[in-house]
Amino acid sequence: MTTLKKDAVVIVTGAGSGMGEAMVREFVAEGARVAALDINPTSAKRVVAELESPERALAVEVDVSSPESVQSSIHQVREWAGRIDVLCNNAGIIDSFRPAHEISLEEWDRTLAVNLTGPFLMARAVIPHMLEQSSGAIINTASISALSAAGGGTAYTASKHGVLGLTRQLTFDYGRHGIRVNAICPGATLTGLTMPEGGSETLPDSETEVARTPAGRWCQPREIARMAVYLASEDADFIHGAAMVIDGGWLTAARNPI
Ligand SMILES: NC(=O)c1ccc[n+]([C@@H]2O[C@H](COP(=O)([O-])OP(=O)(O)OC[C@H]3O[C@@H](n4cnc5c(N)ncnc54)[C@H](O)[C@@H]3O)[C@@H](O)[C@H]2O)c1
Repeated sequence: MTTLKKDAVVIVTGAGSGMGEAMVREFVAEGARVAALDINPTSAKRVVAELESPERALAVEVDVSSPESVQSSIHQVREWAGRIDVLCNNAGIIDSFRPAHEISLEEWDRTLAVNLTGPFLMARAVIPHMLEQSSGAIINTASISALSAAGGGTAYTASKHGVLGLTRQLTFDYGRHGIRVNAICPGATLTGLTMPEGGSETLPDSETEVARTPAGRWCQPREIARMAVYLASEDADFIHGAAMVIDGGWLTAARNPI
């Protein structure tokens, strides 16, 4: 059991699948009240309905790339819970793994809008409430693609490097005001992102990549969710601006392109 504040109010974006779904489960199991935000309201509602105590969670529709949608979702959470203690900026999309000269501007814009502008908009909407309380924790799901190339294409890698920059600047600006901001950098994790369209097939070449890592296996979403719970808890009180890598050693065994 971690030292998560009793009845902490937690927002998780991308809560309808993968890591976000696992975060909803783990935070509720720790006694938190959780707002499960997703662009797909059906999947967010399913995650809440499947909880042992569904009354401790609320499914909310949001498109994190839209300022209006973000504001409306935060309003709904405040109406429901009265406060916001933790924001897990977890929603994200993968790109088509294309290099710069082959990617469309549309794909670049959409990837940046969801993966980078989304966490910024959510943080911007939540921080005034955290400042009022003089406390809060923001946890951004970045990626090993925040620290290296080849985990995605141009747009994904650039967006995740941006998430780490956002994490560090928010830390600098708000740490003294009681708001801790950190990032998690997962490696290859079995989710809807790596197994698209509900299939059992993982992305091309990923099995080979995973097999060559020191851990030699995929990460499970729950392993990322446990780190989110830890970073939100009082146990992590001295952790500011960190990039917590959970990658089974992927980065230490980085592929040589030659
Ligand atoms: N799976 C991996 O191997 C891996 C590795 C490193 C980082 N990540 C990151 O982890 C995070 C979670 O991804 P996942 O692997 O659980 O993927 P996932 O596809 O299983 O879940 C992502 C969720 O985000 C939601 N979403 C997408 N766009 C949205 C938007 N505009 N607004 C609100 N919700 C939106 C989707 O509906 C989905 O429910 C992402 O930020 C991703 O980039 C994933």
